[in-house]
Amino acid sequence: MTAKTSKKSKGEYLVRDIGLADFGRKEIEIAEYEMPGLMATREKYRAAKPLAGIRIMGCLHMTIQTAVLIETLAELGADLRWCSCNIFSTQDHAAAAIAKRGIPIFAYKGESIQEYWEFVMKAMIWPDGKGPDQIVDDGGDATGLVHMGVKGELDPAFLKTAPKSADEKAIFGILKDIRKKDRKFWQKIAAGIRGVSEETTTGIHRLNHLAKAGELLFPAINVNDSVTKSKFDNVYGCRHSLPDGIKRAMDVLLSGKQVVVCGYGDVGKGCAEAMKNERARVIVTEVDPICALQACMAGFQVARVEDALKTADVYVTCTGNCRVITAKHMAGMKDQAIVCNIGHFDDEIDVAGLKAVKGIKVTEIKGHECPVHKYTFPDGHSIYLLAEGRLVNLGCATGHPNFVMSCSFSNQVLAQIEIASKKLEKQVYLIPKKLDEEVARLHLAKCGAKLSKLTQEQADYIGVKVSGPFKPEGYRY
Ligand code: NAD
Ligand code: ADE
Repeated sequence: MTAKTSKKSKGEYLVRDIGLADFGRKEIEIAEYEMPGLMATREKYRAAKPLAGIRIMGCLHMTIQTAVLIETLAELGADLRWCSCNIFSTQDHAAAAIAKRGIPIFAYKGESIQEYWEFVMKAMIWPDGKGPDQIVDDGGDATGLVHMGVKGELDPAFLKTAPKSADEKAIFGILKDIRKKDRKFWQKIAAGIRGVSEETTTGIHRLNHLAKAGELLFPAINVNDSVTKSKFDNVYGCRHSLPDGIKRAMDVLLSGKQVVVCGYGDVGKGCAEAMKNERARVIVTEVDPICALQACMAGFQVARVEDALKTADVYVTCTGNCRVITAKHMAGMKDQAIVCNIGHFDDEIDVAGLKAVKGIKVTEIKGHECPVHKYTFPDGHSIYLLAEGRLVNLGCATGHPNFVMSCSFSNQVLAQIEIASKKLEKQVYLIPKKLDEEVARLHLAKCGAKLSKLTQEQADYIGVKVSGPFKPEGYRY
């Protein structure tokens, strides 16, 4: 590990190699050309600086695309600190470029779990000891840490419970250390937070859970469910980055292979289509009859994981659920099967259960740059696990491409402006449809698209305004 801290530049940083900054800058410049929504947002708000002086903490994959988001928020006046939301998702040249620009960044590809949570803490706390005004979160880890911190202060017994995972072990350790110095630390941090904008489906599940239990400590904006996020990033982003991840990891021909895609929601639709485009033979697993029927209508066979064990070559999980592929499943798979996950956390594939199989042998094929491990069972058959069961598209490749991330991150910027400019309640909000349509509009020219315009007569006939919104709230696209 060659990461280092330094306070010589304008900000602190902890990156793998600051020498990668120039390469990072060149790729950021390419990305800017492909991110018209973000760049237009930058132009529109540059003079007004709606985020002037606002402390924004980001916990979101530190990629080239995220660098363009960070620099957009900075142009709008924000005072930023950033960390990644996954131990394998940082692009080290992107992190270096952000560090060189003077924005505090704590991330490198291949962090340990302990380091990961320490970096979340570093991004959370400013040099004056204060916390953020606003959070950009992806998967809910930063939001969750604040909530766990407050819970531990109000109910110290909570921190005495046995940690259920390596993440919880690291978090409890950090929270206990803070508690020794300040018993109201997290309550003060939480009280200062105006709101969070959450990027992904799994983070929204966590926020809705907190809101339902009446435990949400600050307002939240659901970026994921903007149409220009979940129906673009989750579908087309994964359609691009899933095959990229599998190929970089295994260099395998997907054509002719049997691929099982677990979950046919937004991500599953993109993944199944990508595998079909590779001429793989695709099987979809689902629990929801509507999504299962959609998969049938798209021409996929719908079956159970158990039905495919003897024949499938590749498994992809994208349910946002836990233990969808169990150690027992993997024990029953065909020799040399490839197993990966593109959902948010590492429990869709029961990696802990796999590691606990008696007599299992683990061989590292490739390290943190593109993690691939071979697990050999006592009966002699092996499976390959990609990215240690974490997001394969970010662990083994570079995530979604610029254009689709421009849509997602334009929504993030609008959400951050909304939090800064409005007094919101402690609930989960959606971005207004008018703004969602605006994000799409900003990306049309790049595709050479020309919009038709409603006449007043037509607008009246279908009951909308000439300028939109063009669909009722519940429309599903
Ligand atoms: P979604 O809710 O649209 O789809 C999930 C689907 O999985 C649902 O249709 C659900 O019925 C199904 N499902 C649940 N449990 C199942 C089980 N046991 N077996 C089979 N199917 C099951 O969610 P989504 O937007 O598609 O997101 C899925 C996951 O991907 C989330 O964790 C999300 O955070 C993550 N995500 C990852 C990326 C990425 O770049 N890797 C991008 C976007 C979202
Ligand atoms: N999520 C998926 N792909 C991503 C990317 N390239 N950057 C940030 N977050 C992502």
